[in-house]
Order: sequence, then structure tokens, then C-alpha cells
Amino acid sequence: MQVGSDIEPISNNMPGSSVVPFQNIGRPQSPESSPEELAMGVSASFWVQMRFLLTKQFKLKMRNKLLTAAEILMPVYIILFLLLIRRLDVIPFKVIVTPAAEAAPRHSVFLTPEPLFTKVLSESDIQLQKDTISKYKYDTDPIRYGVAPKGGVLASRVADALCLMDQQRFTTTKVNATFGDGIPCFGVKMFVQASELYASKGRFDNIKSGLDFGVIVDEANNNFTLVHHEFALMNASNGEEQESAAVQNKLVLYQSMITAIISSKGQASILEGPIVPPMPTIPLGTLKVGETQMLTPYLREFPTSERTVIVNFLKYIFAVQFIQVLVLNYIGPMIRMAQEKEKGIKRALLLKGMSPGAYWATWLISETTTILISTCVAVGMLYACQHFLYTEVGWVFLAFLLFGIAYCCLGFLLSFLADKAHTLSMFAALFNLLTIVAFILVQLLMINPGNVSRGAILFLFLIAPVPFGHIMYEMISTEVLSKGWTPGMSEYGQLAYGFLAIDIVFYMSLCIIIENFMDVFRDFTKKKEERDLTDMALATSGGGGIVVRGLKKKFVVTEKNEWGMMKKKIVQAVNGLDLTVADKTIFCLLGHNGAGKTTTMSLITGALYPDEGWAMVGGFDVVKQRSQLRKSLGVCPQFDVLYSELTCWEHMHLYGGMQGLTPDECDQEANRLLGELDLLVKKEQKASDMSGGQQRRLSLAVSLIGNPKVILLDEPTTGLDPANRRRVWKVLQQQKRTSTIIMTTHSMEEADLLADSIGVMSRGQIQAVGSTLELKKRFGTGYLLHILKSISFKEEEVLNAVHSAISGVTVSSNVSGEMALSLPLGQEENFPLLFDEFDAKKEIFGLQTYSLSMSTLEEVFLRLAEHENNEGAEVPAAATGSSPPILVEQSKAAGQDDNSNTLTPSAPSVAVPVNGGGGGGVGGG
Ligand SMILES: Nc1ncnc2c1ncn2[C@@H]1O[C@H](COP(=O)(O)OP(=O)(O)OP(=O)(O)O)[C@@H](O)[C@H]1O
Ligand SMILES: [Mg+2]
Repeated sequence: MQVGSDIEPISNNMPGSSVVPFQNIGRPQSPESSPEELAMGVSASFWVQMRFLLTKQFKLKMRNKLLTAAEILMPVYIILFLLLIRRLDVIPFKVIVTPAAEAAPRHSVFLTPEPLFTKVLSESDIQLQKDTISKYKYDTDPIRYGVAPKGGVLASRVADALCLMDQQRFTTTKVNATFGDGIPCFGVKMFVQASELYASKGRFDNIKSGLDFGVIVDEANNNFTLVHHEFALMNASNGEEQESAAVQNKLVLYQSMITAIISSKGQASILEGPIVPPMPTIPLGTLKVGETQMLTPYLREFPTSERTVIVNFLKYIFAVQFIQVLVLNYIGPMIRMAQEKEKGIKRALLLKGMSPGAYWATWLISETTTILISTCVAVGMLYACQHFLYTEVGWVFLAFLLFGIAYCCLGFLLSFLADKAHTLSMFAALFNLLTIVAFILVQLLMINPGNVSRGAILFLFLIAPVPFGHIMYEMISTEVLSKGWTPGMSEYGQLAYGFLAIDIVFYMSLCIIIENFMDVFRDFTKKKEERDLTDMALATSGGGGIVVRGLKKKFVVTEKNEWGMMKKKIVQAVNGLDLTVADKTIFCLLGHNGAGKTTTMSLITGALYPDEGWAMVGGFDVVKQRSQLRKSLGVCPQFDVLYSELTCWEHMHLYGGMQGLTPDECDQEANRLLGELDLLVKKEQKASDMSGGQQRRLSLAVSLIGNPKVILLDEPTTGLDPANRRRVWKVLQQQKRTSTIIMTTHSMEEADLLADSIGVMSRGQIQAVGSTLELKKRFGTGYLLHILKSISFKEEEVLNAVHSAISGVTVSSNVSGEMALSLPLGQEENFPLLFDEFDAKKEIFGLQTYSLSMSTLEEVFLRLAEHENNEGAEVPAAATGSSPPILVEQSKAAGQDDNSNTLTPSAPSVAVPVNGGGGGGVGGG
């Protein structure tokens, strides 16, 4: 006769049992150690974690070759594309501006249009300009200016500006001079008083010292007026009717040119000019000089040969394209980070004790290496394709490097916006567009910097692409002048560099603040609950016990109502859960799908924040001491959280490293655990190439590495074949020597065999708790007596014998050669008498064999589930007639129920009080 559980005890010669003997490596677990000491012992130093995490980052980079290559090669693609645009005549980059020298009218005012983008004026251009100038003798003479009154600051500035203008007319190369450079200039004469200027003769009187223009300066109002000297003369001699519109036009033009030079603080901005080529020759009207001479001055472009120019708006396009050069260094890490979060790997690493600081630092370092390579490629390409020629390569490199890192950190920061990688990629693209808009906005605001607050511009500089775009814009604008850009040229340029560095610190600080903010915020807002002193004493009594009181967690879900409208609904996943698990025991949490088991596990690990209630695990509060708690936890989530690109062995090293093991210890532990779980043959295989069951075992191995004090396993054996399930059971039974284990399972067989105590959960609450035996006693149907009939079976006599020995027996089934009788609980002492009679009268009763079994855990589970379905109805009494079943009151925890207020394990579940046979059961018949 077989009595008790059908499950064989786990034998030592099962497959995989010949592996390395059990010898845990990890933190010391002396019962005297305080939780803090234990935590300190297991804590991997920041640098050790950095090392393991960096190894992981670089391995993933090496294995994601396509993505890494795309990040590095993106600059090549964009810069070549820009080169192609410039080479093709799609947009009028190439303009032929060679007005026929003969056709050019005399008395022209030459304006140099926007100069070359990359090309310097060629020798032929210079010659052409010289030739043109020589044809217009008049224009090549220095125009003579008079400025009055002399001595003031503005007067000297105006004189400087006039010199620059004059110099421009005489040179064929760019004027690089700034004020005070002592430009040789002989065209400006200073007068002490305005009247002297008016009295001086014009040059058309053929007097050598005659003037063309006079400038009357009003120092008090910071203002000046240009007067045409001939006009002054005419004014004096012939009256006002001589004044012409042309004269006014010309005066206005010159005035604005001088103003432009002065306001540009000495840079010869007149060279750039406001005119987009090809510029028409604009007649300025007719100018009457003296009594007879008529002149027609023209505003026209300075002639050059065929050349490449870039118009203003193209500078924006180029700057925007340069921002896009590093766009993959922004989107790539953001998406990969989101994937790590989406798969739950980041959470798993945090639960294994990973320091958030080490996490962020390793991401930053690993991404910086890719950015460094991308930057080298980008800058090399920029110079190779002659997009840049004059600016020192160091400034360009620094701008790209700082921007690359800042842009990537911006990606890290944005990764908080969504948990799903695909949602985030949409955010990333949208944000990229917005940054470009911000950049263009800032550039437009800067056209007239006086009208916009400096604070507003600097505020927008906190968006990394804005300062970088500005640097690029300035560099392009300088390059088109055939000059090299230096930070000394512009205040905003210098600020932009500074802000790129500030942005890096700003984004990273925000990441770390946000990482911790939610917890701090929740901690602050959560209402303080009263904690029972006895419970607290129990929770802090040392060891790895778990005490949970009044834990609640709800989720808000959206679902369609009867009209097809989306409606919010609250799901109370955990609803006032009380639980006590003794140190170094296995507690099994059973429950139907959606009962709240996984949510409970997440609350206990600190992965989810409870709405109400509290939990202490191994002496640590799961909310307030989350970081210490995580250093002593091993967690195997319901769904595998593995890096598909890392091998078995690499996973063990990574997670071992988070628990503070050295590489040697990781090797040793990996050998032991993979051996025990029959995974050694797969140790070099990538997780993506492993079967579901193999991945499950790897997840389990990962949760056990480092010998954590408390282990939480959510359905660890789902999907495993029977042999591997047994391996896992064996490992868990060994692990129980040093750790407290809570596991969920849908396998009653597993719970029956492994659990020291079992909790049956439903609707977010524990409905019943106790050892297997206790649960069977309370909620089981009693015992089942199976009888195998022979041909001469005497049914009536057998039933009489049974009824006379035991009362309340019912026939469960009676088909062909078998009969099953239900025997109630509480009359176990009468069983031996009955079995003695069966043995003695075997032939007379016509019995072949008989066996006795207790009701299964599955029956218990189903009975509890049935009760849940008929909510409010009492669970039918177990067939004892003496002890009515008691559901666990929520205020009572397992420990109390097991009549203990201390964390002591409950009784094992395999003893059956029949025939003196004990736990192994007795054979009969
Ligand atoms: N992130 C979430 N958002 C919304 N609802 C959730 C979330 N997680 C769980 N729930 C809800 O909470 C309830 C409990 O879920 P939980 O995953 O804890 O159940 P479970 O007992 O682990 O089930 P199973 O045996 O199927 O794993 C379910 O009704 C589920 O729909
Ligand atoms: Mg679950």
C-alpha cells in the first residue's frame, strides 16, 4: 500500500546530482551579523560594478555590429551628401558673376556680395577685380572724406569706418583689420568745426584737397549725418533745387555702410553685404556736380569670375545637417536603454544590487567611446570634403565631441519619457525636430541681438543642438569669408562651447535626480502607517525572514465599456496582504491567474511601490531601505530578463559582479550553478540561441549567484521538463540551508514537495496559509481508499467491515474492477484495525490490492477556488466532523497560524499517520 504523497522523494542519484558539491560563495551569513553588516559584505564596490557593467556594454556593442557601425558611419553618409549637393548644380550654388567690364557704368559703388563658401578668391578673380578697378579711374581714387567736429569718440570711429570702406575699395582680398590697427588711410580729413567742413572745396573743383563727402558728427546724441560735399557747395551757390534723389540715395547708402561697420565692432562686415548674387546693377539716379557735370552713380556687385557661393539660408541647412551627423549617437543609446528597461533587465540588475551611479556612468563611458570615433570620422570627413578649410581642427573636434556627448546624454534623459522602445523612438524623432526649430529660432533672434534678452538665448542653449548649431553657423559664416573661426571672434560662440559642457552635467544630473525622485516623492506623500510593535520586533529580529502587513497595490487599467468607449478601471491587485515567512524556509505562494502573486513579489522586492502597508525583508524595509535590501536579494522574475546577445557565462559574471563577487568567484559559482542546473554544456551559448527551458534555468542560476539572503522566484519551473524540474527542486532544497525562499508556482506537486509553508492567494489576499499537511487537513476531503477487486470480490462484506471500523465512509466510485471509498479525517487511529482485517481476510473479501492516499493539494486548491467563486459561502468542512475549516483571517499571518510568534519553520508536509508507516508510506496487499 502506498500512503501519502505520490511524489518520490528527490534522490541523490538523479541526473545532474554528480556536480560540484554545494558550497555557496558570497556574503557571510552569520546570524550575528546585523542587516547593515550583511549588506556591506555583499555590496560590490562602485568600481567593481563599473568593471562588470562596462564589460557588458562593450560586449553588446561588439555584437550589435550593425548598429555600432551605423552610429560611426552616419557622419560619412551626411557629409558626402552635403558634398554632393555642393557639386551638383541643383541649387544655384554656382553663380557666374562677371559683369562685362565695358558695360559697367562709371561712378559705381561696389559692394562685395557674399563671398565664397569654401573657395578663396582665385588669382584670376583678383586680377579681374584689379582690371575692373583700373577701368574706372574715378572709383579707384581714394574718395576724400571730411569729418567734423574732430576729437570725439564717435568722430574717430566714423573716421576708422571710412578708412575701412576706402581700403575695401582698394583691395581685392578681404579686410581683416579691426579698429586701431593703424590702417593706412589718407582719405579722411578731420575738421575742428562743421563750418570748416562746409567751407572746404569739393574735388570737382580740381583742387587736390577737395572732399567728396562730409560727415557731421553729433557726439552728444551718438549720431552722425553724411553730407555730399558737392551738395554743400551747390547749396551754398545755387540753391536747394539742385538737390537730387540720387544724392540722397547715395548718402543713405554710405551712411548705412558706415553704421554697419561701426556696429559690427570693427569687423569689416561690409564685405558680406546684404545682397544675394547675382545682384543687378542698381542706378542711384543722376547726380549733378557743379554747374554742368552729370554723374550717374551705380550700386553694383564687385565683379569676380565664376565661383561657388552659399546663400544665407544654406548656412542654416548646413548647420542643421551637421547637427544630424551625430543623430544616431542620440537615438541609438536612448532606444537601447529603453529596451533594457522594457525587458526588465535594468530592474533585474538593480535588484541584484547594481548601483544606479555605476549604471549611468558605464552608459556614459561606453557611449563616449563610440562618439569619439564618430567625431574623428566626422571631422576628418569635413576637412577631406573641404567643408571646412581655415578653422583650426581642434575647435571643430572639440565642438563635435562635446556635442556628441551632450546629445547622447539628452537621449538618456528622454529615455525616461516612455517605457516602450517604439514609443520612445517617436518621441526622439519629434524632439529632434523641435531642437532644430529651437536652433533656427535662436539664430533668427541673434540677427538683431539687441531686441532679445540674453537670458532667453542662454536658456535655449540648454538644448544641446542649439549651441552646437550656433557654433557650426558661426564657423560656416567665417569660413565663407576665407577665414578660420576662433572663439575670440564671438561671445556667443564661446558661450556655446561652455554650454555644451554644462549641458552634459545638466542632463546627467537630471537623470540621477529623476531616477531617485519618484521614490523620494512617493515616500514623502505616502501616509505614515502605524506599525505593530510585535510585528516590528519580528521583522527586525535578524536573519532573512519576511514580514508583510496590510500590503495594498492597485493598478489603473483602461478597458472598453459596452458602448465601445475606453474607460478607466481600478484593479486591486494586492488587497491588504499579511504574510510571515520564517528564515531559511521555502514559502510557496499558490493562486489562480491574476491572483496577485507577481504583484506581491514585485512589492516585496521593492520593484513596485505599495499604496498602503509595509514589508520588511531580511530586516530591511522594502521602501525605505530599498538599496540595502537589493544587495541581499536574488530574484527570478516570471518572464526571463536576459540579454539576448550575452552568453550564459557572461550573464553569470555580470550578475555575480553586481553581488560583489570577484571574476574568480564568478567562475566558481557559475560552474557550480550551471552544473547543478545542467547548463554547463551551454555556457558559451548566447541567450537568444537557447531554448525556453534553458533560458528559464539560466534566469534561476542568475538569481542564485552570490548566495543571496532572500530569494524570490516567480514560477521558476514553468516550461521545464520533469528531469530539470527535479534538478531545480534539488538546488532549491540545498539553497534553503542559507536563504529564505518565496516562490510562486502552479504546480501543486512542486509546492507539496518543496514548501515548508504554503499560502493560497486569491483576489489579492492570502485565503489560507499553513503547511501542506495542515492545509490538507483543513481543506482537504480526507483520505481515499482504493481497492482493486479480484473475481471473488464481496462488496457487501467489504463495506460492512469498513463501516464497522470507520464512520462516515462514502463510496466515491465503483466501476468494474476498482472501488474508491472516501474516509473522513479524524479517525486515523482506526485505520490499522481495518487494514489488519483486510490483510487477514484478503481471500474471503476478494481483494487484489488496496492503497490509501490523502487528498491532494490540488483538491485543496480547487476547494478554495470554489469557495472564492461562491464568495461568502463557507468552505465545506473537511470530512472530519470535528474540526471545521478555517480560512486565514487577514490579521493572522502564517507564523501565528503555525502557533508561533517567532520565525521558525513549519512542519514538513510529507508525514502521513497511517499504519505507523510515517512519511514514506506503507505498502499493502
Ligand atoms: N502593470 C500592471 N498594470 C495594470 N494591471 C496589472 C499590472 N500588473 C498586474 N496587473 C493586474 O493585477 C492583477 C494581478 O496580477 P499578477 O500579475 O500579480 O497576477 P499573478 O497572480 O501573478 O497571475 P499569473 O499566475 O497569471 O502570473 C491582474 O488582474 C492584472 O491584470
Ligand atoms: Mg504571475
